[in-house]
Amino acid sequence: MSAEKTKKETKIKNNDDEKAYVIKKAAENLEKEFKEHSVAEFFKKNKQMLGLYGKVRTLTMIIHEYVSNSLDACEETGILPDIDVKIDELGEEYYEVTVKDNGPGISRENVGKAFGKLLAGTKFHRLKQSRGQQGIGCSGCTMLSQMTTGKPSKIITGQQGKKPISLELTIDPSKNEPKIEEIKEIEKEFRGTAVAAKFKGVLYRDSDQGALEYLRRTAIANPHAKISFRDPLGQKIVFNRTQTVLPELAGEIKPHPKGVTVDDVIFMGKKTGARTTLSFLTNEFDRMGAKGLNELKQMVDFDLIKDPKQLDWSEAEQIIKAFKKIDFIAPTTDSLRPIGEKQIQGSLENIVKPEFLTVMTRKPTVYAGGYPFQVEIAIAYGGGAGRKVGEETKMEIMRFANRVPLLFDQGNCALTKAIQSVDWKRYDIKDPDTSPVTIFINFISVHIPYTGAGKQAIADEEEVLEEVRLALMQTGRKAGIYIAHKRRESENQQKRLMFYKYIPEICSALSQITKANEEKLKKNMEQMVLTKLKIEDEKNAEMQKQAEKALRNDENSVVIKEKKPKTEKKEQHNTKRKK
Ligand SMILES: Nc1ncnc2c1ncn2[C@@H]1O[C@H](COP(=O)(O)OP(=O)(O)OP(=O)(O)O)[C@@H](O)[C@H]1O
Ligand SMILES: [Mg+2]
Repeated sequence: MSAEKTKKETKIKNNDDEKAYVIKKAAENLEKEFKEHSVAEFFKKNKQMLGLYGKVRTLTMIIHEYVSNSLDACEETGILPDIDVKIDELGEEYYEVTVKDNGPGISRENVGKAFGKLLAGTKFHRLKQSRGQQGIGCSGCTMLSQMTTGKPSKIITGQQGKKPISLELTIDPSKNEPKIEEIKEIEKEFRGTAVAAKFKGVLYRDSDQGALEYLRRTAIANPHAKISFRDPLGQKIVFNRTQTVLPELAGEIKPHPKGVTVDDVIFMGKKTGARTTLSFLTNEFDRMGAKGLNELKQMVDFDLIKDPKQLDWSEAEQIIKAFKKIDFIAPTTDSLRPIGEKQIQGSLENIVKPEFLTVMTRKPTVYAGGYPFQVEIAIAYGGGAGRKVGEETKMEIMRFANRVPLLFDQGNCALTKAIQSVDWKRYDIKDPDTSPVTIFINFISVHIPYTGAGKQAIADEEEVLEEVRLALMQTGRKAGIYIAHKRRESENQQKRLMFYKYIPEICSALSQITKANEEKLKKNMEQMVLTKLKIEDEKNAEMQKQAEKALRNDENSVVIKEKKPKTEKKEQHNTKRKK
């Protein structure tokens, strides 16, 4: 080996050692960075994931979180909701939000967790139709308030037969734990929950995406609720309840075998009180009858006497494979609670005041194999329907999930995609964008497939898209008949005006040429026009009768209503706002 070569090799080795040393040091430094984070710290950094971004949007989302909690709590305890919402402007892009309900209140033990711990609550762990489902709504607001103002949220809560308490609360983000201060008992009687929290970097606007529009839509989908709102200018708007009966309480359902994963089976097996896998499967799954169990027994290679807590991955995988092959009855759907055709009709007539309205509650069905859902659709036309933009009226889309208005992320939502997939020209809506139409869709389910934690858009599950599309087409057909009738009426009116405009000129010219009496010519011609238009009117009336007969024979129940627009009432909450 030459001296030259040895020198080169030594240099390479030294370089390698140096590189290895640098990597080792960097890895050690990286290890020092390794830390655990709480879910609160995560959302503090990623508040946009909770839908808390955009100045106007954020303020509306805050109202949404508090109001939907109030509605859920009232309904679950059989109370007709009475909700007061107040927004006060404290400075530039600085507001205080106050929401008070007459609900059941929250106990001293749980109030801290309810408002001051993310991923805590009464809803996440169950399969039941409710507005909230994640446990991050109002606690997310507490965090946003302290992040933007450094101030605590103030809460007053009172339960039946107990002294109400007031407290101030913040979240310790590193622990995701509530920090309660100033807790006091109050002498004044109060049942319910009131929260007041301050927020900076937000903005109130009376717009399509503002808090007032949110509450207007909430009132439409919740005719049993009374909602009062005081805006930052001090104007009070009251949406009175039009229904005094509470919606029937939604039932909780068990997971359907077609809607679970291997991981779910292992997780549920660990939590169950059942001693054998056989009783675990029988008790904890929907539609698991003797026939299904017998089939399953033939498809797995282990004894179902096994303790479900001991199920390993491959055994749970066998169960899931069997679930896929077995023909189970579709999930129980009687746990769903639609608003109802009559109630939607009442609400839309009261708040939107359309000229024509058709409403349909479809039968429940299932998505992703295991989740029951149901769709309610209404199409309102003319009168106060549609969105007023300056002098124009445009199509208005009102999306709801479990009666909660979805005001944001419209383009990304399965409900919008279903609307866009319908050929509206077939229903005489030539240009949906510029038609005085309001489309109302309420999607209800025990689990809404939201696209994100901000809960504003529904994922385009195949069955969901198809069902909404079908419902829209059925309702669209009915709306189309009325719209076509209106169009024919207006065309005839145009014709009538045109004929009458030209009769005098034509008759004067004719009398000059033929020397016939001009007045007589006029009379004859008017008679001719009248006869012609009468024939057309009769033809139209016959077409309308046939179409209505076809609708009556339709198997789905539908409300068709034609209302002559009433003279405008002065009540503030009944007037359609110009945007
Ligand atoms: N006004 C209220 N009255 C009674 N209980 C309430 C009220 N507001 C909140 N809670 C309780 O606090 C819990 C947490 O509320 P939060 O909004 O954070 O989550 P959620 O409603 O369960 O789900 P989501 O994150 O989807 O809103 C609720 O599950 C409920 O038990
Ligand atoms: Mg909530």
